[in-house]
Amino acid sequence: MERLTKIYRSRRKEVRAVDNISFDISKNEIVGILGPNGAGKTTTIKSILGLLIPDEGEIFISGRKVGTFDRWIYRNIAAVLEGNRNVYWRLTVRENLEFFAGLQGYKPSELKEKIDFLLQRFGLESRQNDQVRTLSRGMQQKVAVAVAFIRNTPILFLDEPTLGLDVESSLELRKTLRELASENLKTVLISSHDMKVVEEICERVIILKNGRIIANDRIPNLKSLFRTIAYKIVYEGMLQEELKTRLKDNFLNVTFGKMNFVVELKRTEDIYDLMDLLRSYKIQIKSLKAEEPDFERVYIELIKGGEVN
Ligand SMILES: Nc1ncnc2c1ncn2[C@@H]1O[C@H](COP(=O)(O)OP(=O)(O)OP(=O)(O)O)[C@@H](O)[C@H]1O
Ligand SMILES: [Mg+2]
Repeated sequence: MERLTKIYRSRRKEVRAVDNISFDISKNEIVGILGPNGAGKTTTIKSILGLLIPDEGEIFISGRKVGTFDRWIYRNIAAVLEGNRNVYWRLTVRENLEFFAGLQGYKPSELKEKIDFLLQRFGLESRQNDQVRTLSRGMQQKVAVAVAFIRNTPILFLDEPTLGLDVESSLELRKTLRELASENLKTVLISSHDMKVVEEICERVIILKNGRIIANDRIPNLKSLFRTIAYKIVYEGMLQEELKTRLKDNFLNVTFGKMNFVVELKRTEDIYDLMDLLRSYKIQIKSLKAEEPDFERVYIELIKGGEVN
């Protein structure tokens, strides 16, 4: 994708939803697209799908230009769009799955097992013969995701697939996505506000802010930008106020929790000073563990900081 710009115009104002962004996705790569509300994620995905006409820029999928009508693109791409009608409301759950699989050229005999599997995985078995319009929003979202999977296209776009799903279904969807990721047979672009989803399945993330790309890198690389030396110490008993003050005075960042605290060190060898201090107060240490930078925090720092490199 090259220098994509999309401006929404109305009589009163212009919104530069996507501002001159370029990125590539390799075959069989799973990429996450992140960013705050209004960052331009959905606009980007819709542009790639050819559902929006960009103001500037060109998009190619496997060498084919998006926007010039091309059947190949429709046969090879499945998408779940945000809050959209991805499925037919007057067909039942099972009929939707059969219909979309049929469009893809699958024979009914090949389908049953796969459909049953997806219905079971997403907890839709008991509702399989109900019209989609009678289901709850979360269930409709699950049908949309199941339909995208049944089509079994090599390219998949998912715009916030876990939106509105209950804890259990979100877990099942993550499991499905993880399996997909491990097979390494699909190219996937997925937007999500759920950092667990992103961290578990995406090899790389693109972070958008105000329509611009502020980061485009593998998750471990982004984490290493914010790498600190931090330890979590779980103790027994009480921490005296005086000790708390000394911890704050002597080390970088100390966050106190319930029966634990996290301390950031300037140098690795400062751990000895920390231990000496705790010993002098006779603190019973139950465990000590190095803290990994958590991706959610990394993401928030990136968004706060704006542009990287
Ligand atoms: N049809 C439209 N007409 C006018 N402005 C729009 C339209 N669709 C989106 N926008 C604006 O474009 C910007 C980007 O919106 P977009 O939906 O791409 O964001 P997003 O990153 O998907 O956000 P979210 O996380 O809330 O889904 C926002 O400022 C939004 O208000
Ligand atoms: Mg969106």
